[in-house]
Amino acid sequence: MEYKTDVLVVGTGGAGMRAAIESADEEASVMLVGKTLLGKAHTVMAEGGINAALGNVDPKDNWQTHFSDTIKEGQFINNWRMVEIMAKEAPGILLELENYGALFDRTEKGKIIQRAFGGHTYKRTCHIADRTGLEIMQVMMSEVRRRKTIQHLEEVIITKLLTDSKNKINGAVGISIRTGKLFTIQCKAIILATGGNARIYKRTTNAWETVGDGYALALDAGAELIDMEMVQFHPTGMVYPETAAGILVTESVRGEGGILLNSKGERFMKKYDAERMELSTRDVVSRAIFNEIEKGRGTKNGGVWLDISHEPRKFIERKLPKMIDKFRDFADVDITKEKMEVAPTAHYAMGGIRVDPETCRSKIKGLFAAGEIAGGVHGANRLGGNSLIDILVFGKRSGKHAAAYAKQSEFSQLVVTLVENEKIRLFAPFKKKTGIKAIRLKQKLQETMWNNVGIIRNAKTLDKSLKDIEQVKERVSDVSVTGVEKYNHAWIQYIELAAMLPTCKSIAMAALMRKESRGAHYRTDFPEKDDKRWKQNIIVKAKNGKLSLSKIPVQEIPRELRGV
Ligand code: FUM
Repeated sequence: MEYKTDVLVVGTGGAGMRAAIESADEEASVMLVGKTLLGKAHTVMAEGGINAALGNVDPKDNWQTHFSDTIKEGQFINNWRMVEIMAKEAPGILLELENYGALFDRTEKGKIIQRAFGGHTYKRTCHIADRTGLEIMQVMMSEVRRRKTIQHLEEVIITKLLTDSKNKINGAVGISIRTGKLFTIQCKAIILATGGNARIYKRTTNAWETVGDGYALALDAGAELIDMEMVQFHPTGMVYPETAAGILVTESVRGEGGILLNSKGERFMKKYDAERMELSTRDVVSRAIFNEIEKGRGTKNGGVWLDISHEPRKFIERKLPKMIDKFRDFADVDITKEKMEVAPTAHYAMGGIRVDPETCRSKIKGLFAAGEIAGGVHGANRLGGNSLIDILVFGKRSGKHAAAYAKQSEFSQLVVTLVENEKIRLFAPFKKKTGIKAIRLKQKLQETMWNNVGIIRNAKTLDKSLKDIEQVKERVSDVSVTGVEKYNHAWIQYIELAAMLPTCKSIAMAALMRKESRGAHYRTDFPEKDDKRWKQNIIVKAKNGKLSLSKIPVQEIPRELRGV
C-alpha cells in the first residue's frame, strides 16, 4: 500500500491531534497515524490537570510566574524560549479547549477552577476532576473528525523515516498491526508526536505503547536528542496488587489535601521539604519516598501511605472520582475511609528531540517534533500539569510550521532500496524456525533500566545497564516469530524492542556523562549540583547506528527575562 500526503503526523495523543488540526487549518493535506485506536493514546490517562496562569483562584498569578516556576524547577537547563512561549500561550489554549467544548470544573463565580500542584507558586492547574486528559482527547477527536482533509490510520507502527538524496524527509515506512502488511507514505513533512518512553522501565504510569519509538526514528533519520538522562519518576504510583503496580495516583490527591505517611505513621515530608511538604517537586518527593522505603520505613508491599480520608466523602467524590474507582476496582480499598499504598513509578521523559522553539523543526529538513518526544522545555524536572499544556502549545505550532514548510516543498521519489532493506529487517524473525521471544529481551531491558538507571544511579549501575543493553542488542537477531502477521503481538514486541535499544542506550550514556545531580537525575557518586561544569545540555546523535554524545552550554536567559 502507498499513501501520499503533505504532512504526516505520527502519534494520535494530544500533540499529534493538535498538530493535525493546525496543519489542516493551514490547508495542508494531513495523515494522522497512531499505534492505538483514535482517542486511546496515552494522553487519555492524564489525570490532574493542565497549567495556565489564568489567575482565577490566585489573582496574583501571571505568565511570568509560570515561566519562573518552570525554569526554577527545571533547574535552569530548560530552553528559556520554549518556556516563555508555553507560559504566554497557555491561557489562549485553555480558551480554545473551551471553544472545542471541554467542560472544565468551575469556581463559584463560574470561572475555570485551578488546583495546587507541586512546585507552583500559585494554584494554576485547571482540571476536569481527575480525568482531564480524557476530556481533552474527546474534544480534540471531534475536531479531527470534523476536518475532512485529515485522513487517519489506526493501529499502525511507523518503523522508519525516509529521506531523499538531499537528506530531506520525503516519507515513511510502516506496518499495519491489523493486517500485518507493510506500507509507505510519501510526504513533504513529518511531525513526530509519538509521546515518551517510560515503558522502557519495569514500573511505569505509561500505556503499553510508549516504548520510545520516536527517539529511535529520530536518531536513525539524523536528528539530535537533548538531555535524555532526565527521566521523571512520579512519586505516587499504585503498589498493590502487583498487576496494578505503577499505575498513576494523581498528584491531585496531594493537591487536594492528601498527606504522605511512612509505616511508623510519620508525616515524613517535613524532613525533606518542611515548607512545601507533599507539594514539593516530584524529584524531591520521589527521592523522599524511595529513602523511607530503603531505610525500612515502608509498607509490607514496598510503598508508603497516601491518605486523604480526613477530607469529607462528598469532596473526595467530586474531586477524585477516578481515584475512588481505581482503588476500589484494583485494590479493594475505599480511599474515602482508608489509606492508599503508593511508591514512585517511571512517568515522563524530559529529554527528547532537539527542536527550534519557534517552529518545532529538528535538524533534519522536513522533520518536526512536538509533545513529550521533544526535549528542552522542562529542563531537569517537569512541573505537574505542564505536560498537557506543552503538548497543545507546541502541537499547534508544529502543525502550523510543518504545513508552511510543506507548501513550499515538492514531493520526491522514495528510495526503493531503503524501503526494501526495512522490509527485510522487519520480516526477518518470521524466517527463523526457532529462536528467542522478543518479550524476554524487552523484560531484561525494563529490569535493567529500573534497577540501574532509576531514581538513583551511579557509575557502577550505569555501566551495568550499558552492558545489559549491549547483551540484549546482540541477541535481537536470534528473535523468532511464528504465526500469521495480523495482530501478531510477538512481532510487535520485536519491532518495539529494536526501538527501545537506542532509546535506553541514549538515557544510560547521558546519565553516565552527567557527573552531578540535578533535578530528576540523582547520582550517588556525584550528589551535588555542579553549575560550574554542568549548566550544560547533553546532545545525543547517531551515525551508522553508533551513538555519540557532546555537551553544550545552556542558552542564556535574555536580560529582560532574568528579572522575572
Ligand atoms: O499526577 C498527575 O495527575 C500527573 C500530572 C502530570 O504529570 O502532569
